[in-house]
Amino acid sequence: MRPTHELGRHLAIAGFMGSGKTRAGTAVAARTGRRFVDLDREIESRARGTIADLFAEGGEAGFRELEEATAADVLAGGEPAVVALGGGAVLSRRTRELLGRRAFTVLLDVEPDVAWERVAGSDRPLAQSEADFHALHRERLPVYDEVADARAGDADGILLAAGGVVVEAGAIDELGDLVPGDGSVELVADAHVSGIHGIRAQVGLGARDVALHEVPAGEPAKVAAVLERLWSRFAIGRDGGVVALGGGSTTDVAGLAAATYMRGVAWTAVPTTLVGQVDAGIGGKTAIDLADAKNAVGAFHWPARVVCDPSLLTTLPEAERRNGLAEVVKTGLLAGEPLWERSEPEQVRACAAFKSGVCLGDPHDRGPRNQLNLGHTFAHALEAAAGYGLPHGSAVALGLLAALRLSGLEDAVATVRTVLDPRPVAVDVEKAWAALARDKKAERGTPRLVLLDAPGRPRWGVELPAEDVRAALDELIA
Ligand SMILES: NC(=O)c1ccc[n+]([C@@H]2O[C@H](COP(=O)([O-])OP(=O)(O)OC[C@H]3O[C@@H](n4cnc5c(N)ncnc54)[C@H](O)[C@@H]3O)[C@@H](O)[C@H]2O)c1
Ligand SMILES: [Zn+2]
Repeated sequence: MRPTHELGRHLAIAGFMGSGKTRAGTAVAARTGRRFVDLDREIESRARGTIADLFAEGGEAGFRELEEATAADVLAGGEPAVVALGGGAVLSRRTRELLGRRAFTVLLDVEPDVAWERVAGSDRPLAQSEADFHALHRERLPVYDEVADARAGDADGILLAAGGVVVEAGAIDELGDLVPGDGSVELVADAHVSGIHGIRAQVGLGARDVALHEVPAGEPAKVAAVLERLWSRFAIGRDGGVVALGGGSTTDVAGLAAATYMRGVAWTAVPTTLVGQVDAGIGGKTAIDLADAKNAVGAFHWPARVVCDPSLLTTLPEAERRNGLAEVVKTGLLAGEPLWERSEPEQVRACAAFKSGVCLGDPHDRGPRNQLNLGHTFAHALEAAAGYGLPHGSAVALGLLAALRLSGLEDAVATVRTVLDPRPVAVDVEKAWAALARDKKAERGTPRLVLLDAPGRPRWGVELPAEDVRAALDELIA
């Protein structure tokens, strides 16, 4: 069976000349923190000559030999890298076989006319005549089809594909195909969500057996009793899996059930909230709560697929949408792009791609993934002091204000004010301060913060003088 995501593999980018592999690959490597290898440049530096020289000296056959040997060396490396393959590299059976075992290969699609415009007039040996160029494109298409695990049109598309994330209206229509394989599907949803999305009517349709398991709506789903009930009702054999349809609460508990049932079965997240589509459904973190600690018990279990259908958000209440918008603003600040100005489907696509990239680069939360906590240290402290009556989005909006003030970024502070309109909350400041010192990320009672050197340039693990942190907290409290 083909892999559905690249976790633990090299990410290879295939495509015709002029598809933009180098540019997209550079962006993808930066986002995932992976090494970038441009196969053509690697060949040139090993052979100490340009590709045009190599063609002139040894002909195409000589070049292909070098290319195959270099690809084999690069793909043998253990540390997952982002590898842009030359347009013809996949002609080699040996390279294709290695890609199948060691890499997740994304085909960067391009219209041949666009590609020709980009390469015409260059010294690329195989781009000297337009007619030959088009003929070569037609000839190679079947080979690209054979080698591609997924297709994409740009860097975000590659990041999504690499994470197994699909962002598309109408994507859930084929419920039975959401989990790889053809065994039975355990569908987990709350009664409200399964009702509004007509899931009940779909259950049992299609070639696969689908059993629906209802869980409580929202946070009450994230308890041991619900997890235990899922374990005891699941009947997943080989080739079966779990589909979690709902907000972050549903995907968290169902994902943890999938992570633990029979020591781990495949699962697909179908987030139906904005929070879920831009954040909770992506990255493989799953958890339930303990009585006095949120997300205290969990596991890393990357979903086989994440299917984000922005059209499912039409029924979302305004308050839930605002929770999601706070995460969109957070992501935009981390990415250094005003993502909050885009349409909602575009917000989903860009934020999902961003989170997918960061999490692929740090699946077990040992470093860069920390950046996703921007604003959250303060947010969690306010939530704890408010007894969790405070909406997460309101807490994050305030938390962002504090983090950005401590970063000295007044423009970003103004953006958060305009877009999220945070209002100070009336909570016990001593309780909030105590919670801040207890934060998971705190060391020796000093919280470790995520700050921004500038939008797009996060820094994590920052320890500031306690009085500065306390002053920033005080400003959030009415
Ligand atoms: N695993 C992660 O990486 C991660 C990241 C962020 C948040 N989370 C978790 O996610 C949870 C919050 O998730 P959430 O904000 O998605 O809310 P939620 O899952 O708690 O759901 C909120 C409500 O929205 C309703 N709902 C869901 N989809 C709807 C739709 N399309 N139309 C109308 N109503 C709909 C649900 O029935 C529920 O009542 C928290 O428990 C948080 O810890 C996890
Ligand atoms: Zn959050």
